[in-house]
Order: sequence, then structure tokens, then C-alpha cells
Amino acid sequence: MLLTLEGLDGSGKSTAWEALRAEYPDAVFTREPTDSWYGDAVARSMGDDDADPLAELFLFTADHADHLSRVVRPALSEGSLVVTDRYTDSRYAYQAASLSESYLAGGRDPLTYIQEVHEAFTHPPDGTIYLDVDPETAAERAGATNKFERAAYLERVRENYERLIDADPERFVRVDAGQPLEDVLDDVRSGFEDLLERQ
Ligand code: TYD
Repeated sequence: MLLTLEGLDGSGKSTAWEALRAEYPDAVFTREPTDSWYGDAVARSMGDDDADPLAELFLFTADHADHLSRVVRPALSEGSLVVTDRYTDSRYAYQAASLSESYLAGGRDPLTYIQEVHEAFTHPPDGTIYLDVDPETAAERAGATNKFERAAYLERVRENYERLIDADPERFVRVDAGQPLEDVLDDVRSGFEDLLERQ
């Protein structure tokens, strides 16, 4: 079973992932971007304000392909529970916000295009915890250390997450990440149990 944690930067997502890791010692905990050399290439692109958004999409996607073959698929085939901090929805939400519609031929919708690229090879998640926080709080908490953490950009990312949830409401558990951290963590824990029971 593959469960994912998604949300804006500064939503408390990585803290929630750490808390779950302490509670489920037998599960495989992983993240995207990864710590492979593909992940290093992604980090380099994230640090470049002038990076081409399409090239950047494919760097993140290359990192995902490697993550799938090296970590996710082997763990799933051994029957492990896999929990990942960010996964495909991060690309659908963030890179769709980076790719202006005029960038793609024929006025293609970026989010749909990015999903189509992934559908050919990815393993879809069975359930997703979405930590929902408003973009101003997210940008403030994240400290805007990279170009993806600015409020106007995060507003578009959030709209994309909402589109993903509307299209597949059964897969998502929404957690109000504007609450104090302890309450966020309690809701993540119970949402996680719900997702495990659904299978
Ligand atoms: P990182 O510094 O690891 O941040 P965090 O610990 O907050 O997740 O970098 C992740 C950043 O990369 C974050 O701003 C979201 C962005 N990102 C994408 O834009 N697309 C993706 O596919 C992934 C996995 C991450």
C-alpha cells in the first residue's frame, strides 16, 4: 500500500511524516525530491530562478522514475507499507503552476499534460493526506527560501491541489494545517488510520 503526504511548503507536512515514521517502524518512509543524483539535479534547478519550467518538470519526473524503480516498487512488491513525503501530486500542483498555459502547444492544460506524462509509468497512490493551509501562512512559515515558496505562486499551487481533490475525492483526507501543530499531528494520525482501514 502506498500512502502520500501532500501540501504547501510550511504546512507541517515533513513534521507529520516524521511523527508517523516514529509510529510505524515497519513501514518504508521515503520522500521526493530524493537524495539521489537526480535529486541533486532537481535541487540545482530549484535554486535557479531562470530555470526553464519544462526542463524542471522533467528533472522532477526523472527523479520520480528513479524513486519508483529503486525504492517504491521494490518495497511494494515485498508487501511493505510505503509512506512518502511528496509524490506525483506535487508535480501536478507545483509544475502545473510553473508552466504557464501559453508555454504548451495547442493551449494544452499543464496539469492534464503532466498527469498524462506520468500515467504511462507511475504507480498511483492508494491514499493521500492533504495538509491544507492558506498560502500566506505557508509562505510565512516556509520563510520563502526557494522560488516555490512565494505566496502568489503557492496560491496557484493550492488551486491545483483543489482540482486534484475534486477529481478524486475518495483518495484524499484533508487536514486543516492552519491549526496549532499538535492538532495538525492528531488529525494526520487519525486520517492515516482511516486510510489504512479503507484498504
Ligand atoms: P524541499 O526543500 O525538500 O522542501 P520540503 O521539505 O518543504 O518539501 O523541496 C521541495 C520543494 O520542491 C518544495 O518547494 C516543493 C517542490 N516540488 C515540486 O515543485 N515538484 C515536485 O514534484 C516535488 C516533489 C517537489
